[in-house]
Amino acid sequence: MDKEKAKEEEIKPKIQALRGMKDLLDIGGEKYLYFIKNTSKIASRYGFNFIQNPILEQTSLFKRSVGQSSDIVHKEMYQFLDKGDNDVCLRPEGTAGLMRSFIQNKFDKAGGVHRYFYYGPMFRYERPQKGRLRQFHQFGCESLGQASVYEDANVILMLGEIFDFFGIEFTLDLNSLGCETCMPKYKNKLIDFLQNEEEILCNDCKTRLKTNPIRVLDCKKEKCKEVLKNAPKLSEHLCQTCSSDFLKLQDILKINDFSFTLNEKLVRGLDYYTKTAFEFVSTNIGAQNALCGGGRYDKLCSMLGGTNIPAIGFAIGIERLMELIKIKQKKENFIYLGFSKETSLETAFSLTIKKRKKTKTFIEYKPKSFTKHITNAKKMLCTHLAFIGEDEENNNTILLKSLENNEEILLSLEKFCE
Ligand code: HAM
Repeated sequence: MDKEKAKEEEIKPKIQALRGMKDLLDIGGEKYLYFIKNTSKIASRYGFNFIQNPILEQTSLFKRSVGQSSDIVHKEMYQFLDKGDNDVCLRPEGTAGLMRSFIQNKFDKAGGVHRYFYYGPMFRYERPQKGRLRQFHQFGCESLGQASVYEDANVILMLGEIFDFFGIEFTLDLNSLGCETCMPKYKNKLIDFLQNEEEILCNDCKTRLKTNPIRVLDCKKEKCKEVLKNAPKLSEHLCQTCSSDFLKLQDILKINDFSFTLNEKLVRGLDYYTKTAFEFVSTNIGAQNALCGGGRYDKLCSMLGGTNIPAIGFAIGIERLMELIKIKQKKENFIYLGFSKETSLETAFSLTIKKRKKTKTFIEYKPKSFTKHITNAKKMLCTHLAFIGEDEENNNTILLKSLENNEEILLSLEKFCE
């Protein structure tokens, strides 16, 4: 490269992943697949079927479901006009798209219960920090068509099983957000109360008071917390049905030995919730400690133009689990196949193709010494080295060495492929 070209190369800015967006690679990628595989199995056992909705949707979908005044829609959407001037948005969560698809495919008219699970990337333009990314991955489950509070318990108990499977410790925060009968009445009472204290509230809460007063309840600022000590309590304003459903849910969880903490401040950041709201929280991962959030959203289907279908669901934030997950499965055999002479390449390649039908196998195409192959195989975390040296080539054999206990055996090529 001449000097000028070299200089040009030097001043080109390095291309890096966008802020708050991470590559899932190596052990992270393995853990992701391990999590998806095992969680999908549990969800299937509970009757959930896989669904995959588009990542890009019309912006209006999220405005009408997650809510105009929510932080997600108000501040965090990856929103743009596409080449056809359509106002579109990278999905910030999965529930709205799933409901759009449910209605579009007329399943809301079909009756019965529909349970779905999904996983994949979500996008929120938040300030990145540990446990908070701009592209993150969720595993979600949604149960549509079931009004029974037993379904709420079913979903919560399934989550317990999922976290137990991965050995993840958690606590469950539980609340009821009431319904369209009791919530508006409570909201008015809260507004009356907060208006008298408006001067003391933080600036965000002053805005929330006008746009989304219920969100004032989960403000983390000390002065707002102080004001809220005397605020009317949502639990004291639930209607008869919401109150008895919420008590029934608590009873079912107690009967099934599932501990929970009642948390009146748990209001969730999305506007579509009614009645049961919950979060699974970890004590081991720092400030962003919500492992999973969910709840009932009985009005979402009709809000989006469908029929009145009750629903409940949740989404787990997979990145937040990553450091807590330990892969506990028998280590899979992984063979590194190498040779010392170029003339062995054809044989080695055919053997690799055959061997891969049963066992994970890597082939190094360049001839190298035995010791060099061992070093490479160890770097790649292989369990075995299969080697064709000069003797092996002449005798149609292959040497198989365990990299765990150093045992070596000489095999015929047929035996090796068994
Ligand atoms: P959410 O509480 O907004 O609920 O998100 C669910 C989970 O996603 C959170 O508990 C957290 O673990 C993870 N999460 C959220 N934002 C981020 C981020 N910026 N970086 C990393 N992880 C994040 C929902 O999304 C609802 N759709 C859940 C639902 C399903 N409700 C009913 N059905």
